[in-house]
Amino acid sequence: MSQLIQKYNIPGPRYTSYPTVPYWDQDTFSGDAWKSTLKKSFDESNEKEGISLYIHLPYCESLCTFCGCHKRITKRHDVEEPYIDTVLKEWKLYCDLLGSKPIVKEMHLGGGTPTFFSPENLQRLINGIFKLALKAPDHEFSFEGHPNNTTKEHLQALYDVGFRRVSYGVQDYNEKVQKAIHRLQPFENVKYVTEAAREIGYTSVSHDLIFGLPHQTLEHVEESILKTKSLRPDRLAFYSYAHVPWLKGNGQRGFKDEDLPSAKAKRKQYEEGKKLLTKVGYEEIGMDHFALKSDSLHQSMVSGKLHRNFMGYTASKTQVMIGLGASSISDSWYSFAQNVKSLEEYRHLVDNDVIPIYRGHILTGEDMIIRKHILNLMCRFKTSWGTDETYFPEISMVKDRLFEMEQDGLVAFGIDELRVTTEGQPFIRNICMAFDVLLHRKEPETRLFSMTI
Ligand SMILES: C[S@@+](CC[C@H](N)C(=O)[O-])C[C@H]1O[C@@H](n2cnc3c(N)ncnc32)[C@H](O)[C@@H]1O
Ligand code: SF4
Repeated sequence: MSQLIQKYNIPGPRYTSYPTVPYWDQDTFSGDAWKSTLKKSFDESNEKEGISLYIHLPYCESLCTFCGCHKRITKRHDVEEPYIDTVLKEWKLYCDLLGSKPIVKEMHLGGGTPTFFSPENLQRLINGIFKLALKAPDHEFSFEGHPNNTTKEHLQALYDVGFRRVSYGVQDYNEKVQKAIHRLQPFENVKYVTEAAREIGYTSVSHDLIFGLPHQTLEHVEESILKTKSLRPDRLAFYSYAHVPWLKGNGQRGFKDEDLPSAKAKRKQYEEGKKLLTKVGYEEIGMDHFALKSDSLHQSMVSGKLHRNFMGYTASKTQVMIGLGASSISDSWYSFAQNVKSLEEYRHLVDNDVIPIYRGHILTGEDMIIRKHILNLMCRFKTSWGTDETYFPEISMVKDRLFEMEQDGLVAFGIDELRVTTEGQPFIRNICMAFDVLLHRKEPETRLFSMTI
């Protein structure tokens, strides 16, 4: 396994969308095209399956030096109210465009740190959203909580407006690692917020762990997994540390390159970590994610309903996902659009009644076919191109690109179908890359993606 990881560990997309963001075509995209494709998709799907909402809450009190998320560090909490007002105004712009009340099936509050905001402000945000929308009867609402600042009041306030799932950033429990990433976070804090969520009635608690962090060793990873096991979160993310120091302003230069584990040590952390997670009762769900059998994500995987979008893996699919807040990405199924990243510009545009997008992509027929294969592979580890609908002319080239992986036992071809073997699952990003015709037509000139493993 180690040799295969060494062979296939190259920069590659995480495929939360296809086409991936660097390959969006600005020439065929416009604000009007975004609005009309979104409206069409909404009319087709809202009554049937509802929509998903992602709300980006970008503030954090303190900077973690490993973090690749879009955030603004401040201790001033007077930013909360104006930001929420702007998000609600943006939501109104969308609701006016859509014409009838959206039925919200999935909602996720991400960040930054949603629990930077006070429980009262979070409730005001959610109540404001539902002045203009309806909750689907089987809605799934989740949020990201920081173990250092999530309180029982936060958990209760969000529970009262329909949230039943929470994910906490844990990363690693070792103090030396925590110091290097500027994130001191004792086990007791994680234990407290995990137990508090359960007591209040949350049905799914998730923890994020990372391997490959500065000063992290295999022992640290194993210890963190065992501590995690003692709290029995329903879901777990086991992320590879994405070292993307070329992204502007993400503060990743808070430690030296020499402090990172070697490629070999990182591979070992991944392999042994995965083994240990399985041993302690977690099943692998797609890429980077694990869940207990009782969790809805696991059940969706078994029933074939698992879906992947900009929020990561989700238990069901909606055709429309609207992203609110600075830097958020929306997906109408026929098109993508991203909001401006600067908080000042975001506010300025919304204040002037402009939906604050600055780039996007309208999917072509070919894009839709390839997206289908990539989603099949990411969510079900298999795909087929038996019908005209899923056939595309470059399939023979895809087969050529996968030849070596087939020889290595990572994929198996049937008649008009492809299956990822158990050994091939860690290489899912590489396998999807074989289908990514845009990537092959124009290889990136600069480094755009993190390593695949
Ligand atoms: C927005 S944060 C979670 C909420 C909250 N801000 C916190 O830190 O607890 C989202 C998650 O992304 C993951 N993450 C952030 N930067 C990363 C990186 N460079 N590589 C891998 N995972 C990363 C972390 O696991 C983190 O918990
Ligand atoms: S990891 Fe979380 S708290 Fe830390 S900077 Fe990133 S978003 Fe903020």
